Amino acid sequence: MPKPGAESPPLMDKLVSLCKRRGFIFQSSEIYGGTGSVWDYGPLGVELKNNIKRAWWRDNVRLRADMVGLDASIIMHPAVWKASGHIDHFTDPMVDCRECKRRFRADKVDETPWTHYCPATKGNKFEIPAGEPCRHCQARRTLCPECGRGELTAPRQFNLMFRTFMGAVEEDASVTYLRPETAQGIFVNFDNVLQSMRLKLPFGIAQIGKAFRNEITPGNFIFRTREFEQMEIEYFVNPNDTIDGRPADEVMHDRWIQDRLAWYTRYGMRPENLRLREHEKDELAHYAKRTADIEYKFPIGWSELEGIANRTDFDLKQHAQASGKALTYFDDERKAHVVPYVIEPSAGADRSVLAFLVDAYREEEVRGEKRVVLRLHRELAPVKVAVLPLLKKRADIVSRAHEIRARLARDWVTVYDDTAAIGRLYRRQDEVGTPYCVTVDVRTVGDTDKGEAADGRVTIRERDSMEQIRVPVADLPHVFQQLLGDVSWAQVAAAYPPAEN
Ligand code: GAP
Repeated sequence: MPKPGAESPPLMDKLVSLCKRRGFIFQSSEIYGGTGSVWDYGPLGVELKNNIKRAWWRDNVRLRADMVGLDASIIMHPAVWKASGHIDHFTDPMVDCRECKRRFRADKVDETPWTHYCPATKGNKFEIPAGEPCRHCQARRTLCPECGRGELTAPRQFNLMFRTFMGAVEEDASVTYLRPETAQGIFVNFDNVLQSMRLKLPFGIAQIGKAFRNEITPGNFIFRTREFEQMEIEYFVNPNDTIDGRPADEVMHDRWIQDRLAWYTRYGMRPENLRLREHEKDELAHYAKRTADIEYKFPIGWSELEGIANRTDFDLKQHAQASGKALTYFDDERKAHVVPYVIEPSAGADRSVLAFLVDAYREEEVRGEKRVVLRLHRELAPVKVAVLPLLKKRADIVSRAHEIRARLARDWVTVYDDTAAIGRLYRRQDEVGTPYCVTVDVRTVGDTDKGEAADGRVTIRERDSMEQIRVPVADLPHVFQQLLGDVSWAQVAAAYPPAEN
């Protein structure tokens, strides 16, 4: 915690530090100096990310009668990427510094602060804010923003796909790619899924999986990385259908946009931190009729969290043409084959982790002391219950706490901790977003020396209100079934006496 009066570090720095310190996210290969923009999920991070993916899958696949799932391979036939347009169009313009050899996105070089050796001050070196001129000589950046000395090359197109070789021989014929999006795995399996599952339009195919992009300017923690996970839906619609007089693809697009926005708020994201942004005509991808981004107010500013595009029949037609296989749907009513249109809600799992963390992070004052708390939705919280003994020297208290942890761990991620005093243990759990703590104390087990009988109850403390109730140990499974289900704390707490803080 910073000293009073000291400037607090920016939110992103605090999160990066908390994530490392508390086992959420580590830099990849850190002991070797780290790898550029890839990250590893630690014990709490993997739980959080899995909870996000599980909630997404349940809500978008299991609970919907019109959706099915898929898990396609990362390495696909290279012809896929030719047909999809990735080989020709999945590029960013880049420039190289002739001096320091660093590489930049041509459209971003003026968006970063730049280094300048100013002739008006005998060549002194200055760091100048992005887009501003030098205060002394009024010059604007023309040289490399990083070293300040080198000329930049003319922009060249740089393909973002990772290339590799399939098989033992490294030759052009064996070149293949790591997929840059999960979507294409769905398109090439369209007919397999349609036929095997006997589906009727409209229906969707969902997939969660890794994607790889050799981003030129990755960064901002897990916001933009070179290896990341996507949660994508391709929702197929008959373009000849109408709903209330409007083309079905346009109506379904609107519905998905509203559905996906509501999904983030359902899991606790504050509505004021979410907004929609329509793509302008000149920024639309070559395949898209309309795209709307769900943006989140990240510490770096409003940025894309999920894109929801109407990709029309572009992908199915491209793959049909390139493979020679029909990718159509037989419309029974019209007795004709049709190429479906597709609505694509495409979310990033890692970007969602970041947005949920940013949204949940709070610094609060409690009885004159600061506490850091992650107000994560109970379904997303990595640990659901922490069991804490009040006195670790009392063997009967410790063993009862272990028994309780073992019982609750059958149903929920539950931890035991006795490595500090109770106040400190509570703060530690607050900081990682654990919604409930169970404390075992002397009254739970009684004190024969003092002639005090056991009451067989433990204290449950709720993270956000910090309220506490006394609950019989035997009730715990049922109480947590309610609390970690849909019953509110207020409703459950009404049935039990409060505990003294
Ligand atoms: N199939 C469509 C598609 O891939 P996209 O807008 O390029 O569209 C969709 O990516 C989502 O994937 C983004 O909204 C973002 O959440 C995530 N994403 C894309 N590139 C990423 C990267 N380099 N690092 C982390 N997440 C990324």
